Amino acid sequence: MERTLSIIKPDAVERNITGKVNSMIEDAGLRIIAQKRIHMTAAQAEEFYAEHKDKAFFTSLVDFMTSAPVVVQVLEAEDAVARYRKIMGATNPAVAEEGTIRKTFALSIDKNTVHGSDSPESAKREVSFFFSEIEIFE
Ligand code: CMP
Repeated sequence: MERTLSIIKPDAVERNITGKVNSMIEDAGLRIIAQKRIHMTAAQAEEFYAEHKDKAFFTSLVDFMTSAPVVVQVLEAEDAVARYRKIMGATNPAVAEEGTIRKTFALSIDKNTVHGSDSPESAKREVSFFFSEIEIFE
């Protein structure tokens, strides 16, 4: 079994569609083994997205992710990282496949509804960024 870190982003929380996103996650065979609603500080968002700090979109990414609450989750499944990335769809919803979360709900490349870890190594870092082991129940 593998874990991945999911964030349901401000655009989805504001539209009150976290349950709809969770249904798609569960229908894809992923189990939500931890979940909480938080409002990220700028310092937290900057650290979480540190790998993007030299990108042109970094400031707008941090502004967006701190604009309203998000739901952070730990998902578990066989090949959870790849399985979640498949159901999320492409970063840019304009090119995401039909039936994916981003094709269904995302508004733009920034307001793209969900984040998922991009590798098992990132997943370990990202899960422990938001959760301690005593908050995760398998
Ligand atoms: P996410 O998976 O959360 O990781 C970084 C985010 O930056 C990404 O989703 C997008 O929402 C956002 N972003 C904005 N512009 C770009 C871009 N040109 N390429 C990749 N990510 C972008």
